[in-house]
Amino acid sequence: MTSFRLNGREVSVQAPDDAPLLWTIRDEAGLTGTKFGCGIGQCGACTVHVNGDAVRSCITPTGSVAGQSVTTIEGLDPKGQHPLQMAWIEAQAPQCGYCQSGQIMQAAALLKANPKPSDADIEAGMTGNLCRCMAYIRIKKAIKAAAAKGVAA
Ligand code: FES
Ligand code: FES
Repeated sequence: MTSFRLNGREVSVQAPDDAPLLWTIRDEAGLTGTKFGCGIGQCGACTVHVNGDAVRSCITPTGSVAGQSVTTIEGLDPKGQHPLQMAWIEAQAPQCGYCQSGQIMQAAALLKANPKPSDADIEAGMTGNLCRCMAYIRIKKAIKAAAAKGVAA
């Protein structure tokens, strides 16, 4: 059993220590906003925060987050109205939407570390998050819009 904080509440899960956090979040906690893409840390669809840092939950063992604070897209804002989420809507960033939870979680960590990123900073910070719909231009626009509003996500 592993105990940790998930979106602000204490949880204890039965998953083996080496079970990917992604599946613990989805199957045990029932939070399906975090997506499975590649399973090998190469696409970013499964991005969540551990203690505020963006991590790939598909390659993060559940046991490694014992006592840590994990945030998923469902916990980024209690009403789903985080400034990045609002900027995403404004920019109509998603196409199919599959990659977008991971994109937003990565962007939130990026803005937390660098509230006023340059274009190059955004490109570097988001380079590991793939979008098969090629929504990159709108994703970048949304990040810039949130940053321009002074969002330290
Ligand atoms: S599913 Fe985790 S990085 Fe692709
Ligand atoms: S919006 Fe479809 S994969 Fe990114």
